[in-house]
Amino acid sequence: MGSARWLATFFDDPVAWYTRLRDRYGDIVGLRVGPIGMVVCFDLDTLERIMVREPRDYVKGDGLRATRFVLGNGLITSDGELHRRHRKLAAPVFTPRNIEPFADATVAIANDMLDAWPERGTVHVARHAYDVSLRVAGVGLFGSDFDEHEREALHEAMRQLNEGYRTAAGPGGTQALRHGLTPAARRMRRGRDHVDEVIRGIISQRREAGDAARLGDLLSRLLAARDEDDGSSFTDEEVRDEAVTMLLAGHDTTAATLGWCLALMGLHPKEQARARAEVDEVLGGRAAGAGDLRALRTVRAVVDETLRLHPAVYSTVRDPIEPVTLPGGHVLRPGTDIVVPIGGIHRDPRWWDEPLDFRPGRFLDEATVRARPRMAYLPFGTGPRICIGSSFALQELVLVLATILQRYELAAPAGFELRPHVGFIRRPEGSLPLEVTRR
Ligand code: HEM
Repeated sequence: MGSARWLATFFDDPVAWYTRLRDRYGDIVGLRVGPIGMVVCFDLDTLERIMVREPRDYVKGDGLRATRFVLGNGLITSDGELHRRHRKLAAPVFTPRNIEPFADATVAIANDMLDAWPERGTVHVARHAYDVSLRVAGVGLFGSDFDEHEREALHEAMRQLNEGYRTAAGPGGTQALRHGLTPAARRMRRGRDHVDEVIRGIISQRREAGDAARLGDLLSRLLAARDEDDGSSFTDEEVRDEAVTMLLAGHDTTAATLGWCLALMGLHPKEQARARAEVDEVLGGRAAGAGDLRALRTVRAVVDETLRLHPAVYSTVRDPIEPVTLPGGHVLRPGTDIVVPIGGIHRDPRWWDEPLDFRPGRFLDEATVRARPRMAYLPFGTGPRICIGSSFALQELVLVLATILQRYELAAPAGFELRPHVGFIRRPEGSLPLEVTRR
């Protein structure tokens, strides 16, 4: 199959594509796409070596060509000393203690959304999931809710970025992007410029207000942060890159996951009833808060299982700094992408019984959890480059889902189809019309 057709089938559904690849060719598969060589690795021990045991021997490198164009040199795309310095400065923002204060705002935003739902009828939940997550990101990352105008601008920008990415991510994509050569590249540039405009506006407002350290949100902390060793702080350009990185990495992924969660709840009434029974028992009618996260185990298992079947970040890559030899004798030169097929690993029958079934219970039974290899579940990656916002995302997903289940029943109407739509991330396709009934 030619590389163009190969890429086209990949973007239909990379998770299904990885599964087929492993079934056919095994654990370590060498591929060539146009001029680019890569290896897709399903072998958990090798992945552990790359991501956990010897992470300093690898970089994100060229593998993230197309995203660097948008994200600049933020945490996701940077490597080496720059990455270590920024990670150290940003890490305190995301500790469980520091994200707890955002729990009440998250629940208030979810309730605000639900106040506008009908007593009974069809709600297109994808846009709501997107809006809630954007508003929570606004509060947690920038210290204020985005207004209607900013939300609209960001929605449109994300759409342009995602649509452009499918075309622009291919071989030669970086050049096309940089020079705005193709319609897709032009669309992405427009999307990036819109995001930049909103973020730069917020940064300059905040610098002028001079209230940097007061709010405890990400932007305040970035503006106020000083390196312990040399006292240096972030430049405006660095703050921009980190803020855009966090917004795109944090909001889009969480919105997509919430969309998958709600659709799966609509399709699986028994699992929904089980989670709701827990919500009623734990909350007894009051609003959820950070203190309930530990007790909402079944709701958390719904989120975990959703992230297994439909990880928004369906793969990542590493490039070796020096030549490395992988099992099977594959010698990789620097600049060769090693693909970590997260979505494929999550459906590997060696680690997961009936991998295509939606079964939150597999995260509740302690013996089953303990028996599973740690590397078989990587929705947030692992090692020193593990997702910095995972606690923030999980807090938001559990609290929003619990609040929705507390107030509404969800049902997928006849003929409802759940399919992926793939851009930067893998989200559920379409508007997700669910039948909702107020309790
Ligand atoms: C359900 C939601 C999310 C998912 C599925 C997700 C997934 C991931 C994954 C798989 C990685 C590791 C990539 C790699 O190893 O190459 C990652 C890294 C990252 N994520 Fe998330 N993420 C989510 C939410 C968030 C949130 C809420 C934020 C910030 C507010 C965030 C910010 C980041 C950053 C900055 C990195 C790069 C960390 C580093 O390399 O040091 N993510 N994410």
